[in-house]
Amino acid sequence: MESNLKEAKKALRATVLAARAAMPANVRQSASATAIERVRALPAYRNARSVMTYMSFDTELDTHDFFSGLLRDGKMAALPRIDRTSKQLSVHCVSSPADLVAGVWGIQEPRADLPVVPINDIDMVLMPGVAFDRQGNRLGYGAGFYDRLLSTAGTRPVRVVAAFDEQVVDAVPHDDTDQRIHILVTPTQILEFPETAT
Ligand SMILES: Nc1ncnc2c1ncn2[C@@H]1O[C@H](COP(=O)(O)OP(=O)(O)O)[C@@H](O)[C@H]1O
Ligand SMILES: [Mg+2]
Repeated sequence: MESNLKEAKKALRATVLAARAAMPANVRQSASATAIERVRALPAYRNARSVMTYMSFDTELDTHDFFSGLLRDGKMAALPRIDRTSKQLSVHCVSSPADLVAGVWGIQEPRADLPVVPINDIDMVLMPGVAFDRQGNRLGYGAGFYDRLLSTAGTRPVRVVAAFDEQVVDAVPHDDTDQRIHILVTPTQILEFPETAT
């Protein structure tokens, strides 16, 4: 990656992560609940049979209730496992909270023996990230896990992000390897981006 782009991404990550960390815990909790409720009301969610999510950690928007909701709603629930060496995510089918174990960085992830789900079999994915703009660009934590995972996907899954308003910026620096998102949900707004041809 071009070094200017790398530096610009790094600087934006630091700024937005600091803003997110500065949110009081109670504000973070209520904003999380509101954003997750709005995601659950989206047709992309309601019509989905299979949904991938991640288990939030640290100061991320809390996705734990979203995961419980998947099981309650009878969706096929899928979660990623991180392979730090290959920098790949493997996606596994989860049918109970008991299927999760603590993985890298203490993040809850599915046991390795659970069935693998191809990314193209997933209808909707809830993606993590650091910063997002109003054009559908996404900044992650810097490992490119979701860029790699989605580089092999077709028109499915619908890519949804639930984020705090503090994470929405005017412009996210990006290049051709950065995968765009389709729907950005915050406690106050829902932004939809036309799907790019693949
Ligand atoms: N499809 C891909 N195959 C291989 N490497 C990739 C792919 N997509 C992204 N990468 C690499 O992953 C690294 C991290 O990407 P970056 O966009 O900075 O991280 P993030 O998306 O987590 O913010 C970059 O070096 C990028 O070139
Ligand atoms: Mg990227």
